[in-house]
Amino acid sequence: MTEENEKMVVTPWEVRGVIDYDKLIEQFGVQPMTPGLAERIAKHAGYMHLQLRRGIYLSHRDVDWWLGEHEKGNRVGLYTGRGPSGYVHLGHLLPWFFCKYLQDAFGADLYFQMTDDEKFVFDDHLSLDQTIGYTYDNALDVIACGLDPEKTHIFSDTEHIQHLYKIALRVSKRVTYSTAKAVFGFQDSDNIGMIWYPALQAMTCFLQSDRDGENIPCLIPAAIDQDPYWRMTRDIAEKMGYYKPAQIHAKFLPGLGKGGKMSSSMPETAIFTVDPPEVAENKVMAAFTGGQATVKEQREKGGDPTICSIYAYAYFLFEEDDAKLIELEKDCRSGALVCGDCKARLAKVISRFLVDFQAKREKAKDSIQDYFIK
Ligand code: TYM
Repeated sequence: MTEENEKMVVTPWEVRGVIDYDKLIEQFGVQPMTPGLAERIAKHAGYMHLQLRRGIYLSHRDVDWWLGEHEKGNRVGLYTGRGPSGYVHLGHLLPWFFCKYLQDAFGADLYFQMTDDEKFVFDDHLSLDQTIGYTYDNALDVIACGLDPEKTHIFSDTEHIQHLYKIALRVSKRVTYSTAKAVFGFQDSDNIGMIWYPALQAMTCFLQSDRDGENIPCLIPAAIDQDPYWRMTRDIAEKMGYYKPAQIHAKFLPGLGKGGKMSSSMPETAIFTVDPPEVAENKVMAAFTGGQATVKEQREKGGDPTICSIYAYAYFLFEEDDAKLIELEKDCRSGALVCGDCKARLAKVISRFLVDFQAKREKAKDSIQDYFIK
């Protein structure tokens, strides 16, 4: 089956096919982001983040309410996470960069969940020692995003379970097996660890409220694949005495191949934060583009940036300047720019980014314990 006619699948564990975001908004029953909401966030931050300006946050639930609570002078919180199944790639960084922006803008605490239990029960090939090892490795990436150590609380589901278990139990008692099956599509052959796990991912929505002893509105920035968890959690939140968690959903950073999101399961089309810069440069030089088969044809007909992974990287992450992005698009379409030059340019930018980010990761080793919950 070709990518074009492959059925769209977006679940927390699998994303494939051509992603129709309008259809997802309808299927998931979420609200489209609006320019007004983006403006309201930007007003608090003092500037409009690239991800807001470019519509990378496509939808939300109750962001207006969460903003309203902050505007009334109430405390607000943030929550996001990572399933530590390997090294972190650029796609994972998108919501974490955005969390840093929101943390600074709203002075909010961020609870960051490392789901080493999830990756153990869902993946046949990973041992618990491995997923726990990646928890501490991936935490370096989180810290390298520049988050505030006073306001960032990273935890591992396995190693910090004493802080989590009671709330998770209260969640689990409210969710029936039939709801879990309907939301996550569990099969009889699935292990019972998988079926219990959603209680852990839901629990964090209430963790700050529980620890601080007051009801704190929680906003979750993440890509839209994580949405099923929030549907389940929102159903039970008020019954448990908490606010429903709000969400802001990102689109997926594509991989370097033709179509599809950046995914660890396709390492040749993903750029990992630990990739040596020259390896990343080679991946970029081998990427799928929207260009023509030959330079001559490209000069005559121009390329198509809408399907080009190289253009996507400029758009999602690496070209801050909107005017330069427009110029890039124009030069691509007109044939003034050929793919080899465009790739070489991006390869250098990514290489510089990695050198800088890897230095921050290294430095994070000295302060990692300041970020984990006690
Ligand atoms: P995980 O490890 O699959 O993904 C971590 C975060 O990265 C986002 N993401 C992407 N965003 C943009 N482009 C991509 N190509 C891309 N690939 C992944 C995910 O949406 C996620 O935000 N079960 C979760 C861990 C978790 C969590 C959470 C995530 C626990 N609590 C709360 C978000 C919010 C997981 O395995 O994420």
